[in-house]
Amino acid sequence: MPALVLVRTVSGLEWLAAEEVVAAGHRVVEMSKRQLIVEPTSEVLIEQPPRVADDLFEVHGLAPDPGRSKAGLVDAVRLALQAAPADRGAFAVSASFVGARTFNRFDVEDRVGERIARLTGGRYHSRRHGVAPPDERSEWRVVLDGKTLWIALRPYAVPLHRRTWRRRTVQGSLHPPVAAAMARLARLAPGYDVVDPFCGAGTLLLEAHALESRARYVGLDRDPAAIEAAQENGSTITWRRGDAAYLTTPADRIVTNPPWDRRVHIGDLRPYIRRWHRSLRPGGLLVAILAAHQVGQLARGWQVHARHEIAVAGQHPAIVVAGPSRS
Ligand SMILES: C[S@@+](CC[C@H](N)C(=O)[O-])C[C@H]1O[C@@H](n2cnc3c(N)ncnc32)[C@H](O)[C@@H]1O
Repeated sequence: MPALVLVRTVSGLEWLAAEEVVAAGHRVVEMSKRQLIVEPTSEVLIEQPPRVADDLFEVHGLAPDPGRSKAGLVDAVRLALQAAPADRGAFAVSASFVGARTFNRFDVEDRVGERIARLTGGRYHSRRHGVAPPDERSEWRVVLDGKTLWIALRPYAVPLHRRTWRRRTVQGSLHPPVAAAMARLARLAPGYDVVDPFCGAGTLLLEAHALESRARYVGLDRDPAAIEAAQENGSTITWRRGDAAYLTTPADRIVTNPPWDRRVHIGDLRPYIRRWHRSLRPGGLLVAILAAHQVGQLARGWQVHARHEIAVAGQHPAIVVAGPSRS
């Protein structure tokens, strides 16, 4: 079992990933932008990783962040990585850092890649010249977070956010860890009727089902191609063709990702929002991921319990948790 695990998250969801990790019995020792450092209490963290996490890596080395200079970087990498698991196969390195530096990410990747190749006998594939590394490879992750230089290895063949259930996507399909976060925010319970009136390829309900399999799920979309994609992604859920403006299914939870008016057009959301208001049972909750300009449309008749700004795929939507107001 690794002593420390580096968990990467979507920006704005660090706290929720931390909550999930702690609920599973592990200890979060540090939390910073897009990242948690976790002390696992068992292998279970690797075998059943947090679904809100974007990716997860086992830490093999760390050193104080060397700051701006390239010479400092060379020393820090040597200090951080004294040993690595022998593996003569192909590997790649991906690096990120915060703050101004006199080196770029490729300098970091190549420095660490050369060090790992020397220690393990593996074949390093640099990304510096835009050549994609082979699919069959190990992936190392380096982060300079301003305090520490972390060098870590992904224990999986593919990134954690890539779900085995996902065979198809549609225009605007949601990043699965964001869907997992929304499912957690919905506080699902056995027997609940959970509806997604803009289900697309079904990401939200499939992640919700992974979290709470004893609720009843119905996904609607007006596009037959989306319903077909959702059916291919998961047959445990009822997928129906229909218009969200005519939603009549009573629901304990509406969990949804309407179009943000960028790639998929929707216009005024208020007629849909009025429908959701009527469909929700007493005590019901809406968890919606909305573009910034859409959030204000929830104004009348709703009590907004929480609003979480996130950054995903170059966008800055908000996850809104709201219920019909009593007055
Ligand atoms: C942003 S996508 C949802 C993506 C989905 N969360 C996923 O991960 O695949 C929005 C979906 O709303 C659907 N849609 C647009 N207008 C609709 C309407 N009036 N009623 C039902 N679905 C609609 C589109 O066909 C599209 O699949």
